[in-house]
Amino acid sequence: MVHGGAGALDNVRDNKTALRYLESIRTIVEHGRNVMELGGSALQAVEACASLLEDDPVFNAGCGSVLNENGKVELDAAIMDGRDLSAGAVAAVGNIANPVQLARLVMTKSEHVMLISEGAMRFADHCGMERVPEDYFYTPDRVEQLHQARLRHKVMLDHDDSDDDSEDQKYGTIGAIARDPEGNLAAATSTGGIVNKRMGRVGDSPIVGAGVYADNETCAVSATGFGEDFMRTVISKTISDFMLMKGMDANQATEAGIAYLTRKLRGRGGVIVIDQHGNCASGFTTKKMIHGWIEKGGETHCSF
Ligand code: GLY
Repeated sequence: MVHGGAGALDNVRDNKTALRYLESIRTIVEHGRNVMELGGSALQAVEACASLLEDDPVFNAGCGSVLNENGKVELDAAIMDGRDLSAGAVAAVGNIANPVQLARLVMTKSEHVMLISEGAMRFADHCGMERVPEDYFYTPDRVEQLHQARLRHKVMLDHDDSDDDSEDQKYGTIGAIARDPEGNLAAATSTGGIVNKRMGRVGDSPIVGAGVYADNETCAVSATGFGEDFMRTVISKTISDFMLMKGMDANQATEAGIAYLTRKLRGRGGVIVIDQHGNCASGFTTKKMIHGWIEKGGETHCSF
């Protein structure tokens, strides 16, 4: 399963734009299937899919990331392996085309789970990861979006065309989750965060248990939404706990998780979930969430 953000998606008003999103989601979820058909693991599949989503400028991650109050990108990403709960995350990094790949290096080549900012960049240099120039991220849409946010003296949550702060937003983040034929689960989430956000603000995406979670005993989860809501409800681990402690399947646990998010905080956003048996589920409190899935080797589905 992959997702490309949740919200009202008011910027997807015409069929051409909608098709553009759906084609990208379809291509990327099918790439994930190919990775695993060729013997790749769930972890390899989610890293590959998240990297492709980061490379597509329509999504708020990687090259399409939103800009902070200083007109810079600060990227957050995480990856988790359900086999042994190993995880890697980076927060507030710039000049990295694929933060999810840096997160994977933190997981596999450091003794830590999360590195941030300058320390994460030094680690990227140490690993030989290429730095991209700042203009790699400056798409005309993102520069205009920051300009609008500054004019309105507010923090915008993503590709918002609307004057309504509460509902008509797109909470951009990308994510990928997978279960491979061996039954291993993995999850990855990556984001540019929130338009005009304070320097140093970190959202849910790189936080294990909030924006990302994978445990072979329960499920893989990736979240997209207003990060502060998802951190406070630890939404991904909460969904996993519904399975572990109450024996719920993907649909039941997703429904329970979204109900909890709504009841506690009226939280804004959504999740994609695959349980240990390969059942796929999704849930969101926003009007829409861009996502795609292939359940148990079947057909490809894409939806808003
Ligand atoms: N969910 C992305 C963020 O709030 O940063």
